[in-house]
Amino acid sequence: MTEKLAKLSIGNQAWEFPIRSGSIGPDVIDISKLYGGTKMFTYDPGFTSTAACESKITYIDGDEGMLLYRGYPIEQLAVHGDFLETCYLLLYGELPNPTEKSKFDHTVIRHTMVHEQMSRFLSGFRRDAHPMAVMVALVGAMSAFYHDSLDITDPHHRLVSSIRMIAKMPTMASMAYKYSIGQPFVYPKNELGYTANFLRMCFSIPCEEYIVDPILERALDRIFILHADHEQNASTSTVRLAGSSGANPFACVAAGIACLWGPAHGGANEAALAMLEEIGTPERIPQYVARAKDKNDPFRLMGFGHRVYKNYDPRAKLMQQTTHEVLKLLGHGDDPLLQVALELERIALHDEYFIEKKLYPNIDFYSGITLKAMGFPTSMFTVLFALARTVGWIAQWKEMIEDPGQKIGRPRQLYTGAPKREYIELANRA
Ligand code: SDX
Repeated sequence: MTEKLAKLSIGNQAWEFPIRSGSIGPDVIDISKLYGGTKMFTYDPGFTSTAACESKITYIDGDEGMLLYRGYPIEQLAVHGDFLETCYLLLYGELPNPTEKSKFDHTVIRHTMVHEQMSRFLSGFRRDAHPMAVMVALVGAMSAFYHDSLDITDPHHRLVSSIRMIAKMPTMASMAYKYSIGQPFVYPKNELGYTANFLRMCFSIPCEEYIVDPILERALDRIFILHADHEQNASTSTVRLAGSSGANPFACVAAGIACLWGPAHGGANEAALAMLEEIGTPERIPQYVARAKDKNDPFRLMGFGHRVYKNYDPRAKLMQQTTHEVLKLLGHGDDPLLQVALELERIALHDEYFIEKKLYPNIDFYSGITLKAMGFPTSMFTVLFALARTVGWIAQWKEMIEDPGQKIGRPRQLYTGAPKREYIELANRA
């Protein structure tokens, strides 16, 4: 088949660049030789038109509102499978058979304990430290404890550190939560499943046993599936860029957690709930919608809009269903926050501004209401997002490291600063 070419002409010079096609989705123009030929860079802040890598893990069609993990639609995985099945799929590329699933679950569950000395880290934090600050520290500190799985050139080390990362996130997340409320840490129990273990480590107290509600366990497990991976989003790109220098996976995931914290990204679930609480009643919604449309007002409707989805975020639909299930189970079906959220969604989906800019609710719009109803404080929302996204970060990191063409990421720039000039001695300056 003849190679497709993109032609670029500047003045009386012309260049050709190969066009590459994926299995589905947009083609790419391979411009890796552009600077060598033209002595020019492309310019694309925010990477709105830039494919930074080739990947086989997750595919998003923003116009169709489609999300596939290794080709499987998120709607099917979230309804029929569990989170550890999704972890296996993202890591290895195929759904596990019953033997593989049982072995994987057994392995992950038996890596949930953390080194006992890690529990002393937290005492250095104030009790009111944001749990995301604690998570950045704890995950980064894993490189100081798990020396026996830091050689990224060794496939076995990569496997062990991947399993350790996935397995220990719930334990560290529960420690961050328990520390913030002054309660003792709870050790994982091997007879519990991954998500049940996390709920028990968060909500069990020494004075009485905590019985995991299977409906809450299923709902949270589904929330983890929905958040597991999302192509080359900001935090995943951070993990890939950190990993491209050869940094160990724990340090790379710590960098990903730091990036996820921002309100434009994973911090939006915390910001969306704060916004709903500030709005307070459906009657106050119009003034906030007006602010979101006002160019001179930096206010944005948190939980709305997405760089890729210009249709409904398929995760938001599933999230909305889960929200209703959880609130009904917990007797909060008439939660005023849910009423405000539903009315805000109705108004926004009929408002010309939002329709024209294709601003739909994203996954963060509903997740906060659900997590709050489950008993998590707002400050833990992005921690739960990080817990779920860890498998995506690790799968993408592993894919990058195992790519034979992998090299350090080093973007260039358009320089608009001062041209070269001579130093002026202090005594000679005005
Ligand atoms: C996540 O990338 C991922 O995949 C992320 C994520 C994942 O799973 O990893 O999906 C998770 O981060 C979801 C997004 C959560 N963030 C929020 O809910 C914060 C609110 N949303 C916005 O900050 C914004 O929509 C972004 C950051 C999500 C996307 O921003 P873009 O693609 O850079 O779009 P933009 O800022 O250029 O906005 C386009 C237009 C602008 O108006 P104009 O300048 O064209 O006139 O839409 C407007 C914006 O002002 N706009 C909004 C808006 N979002 C965009 N106006 C009001 N409210 C909003 N929420």
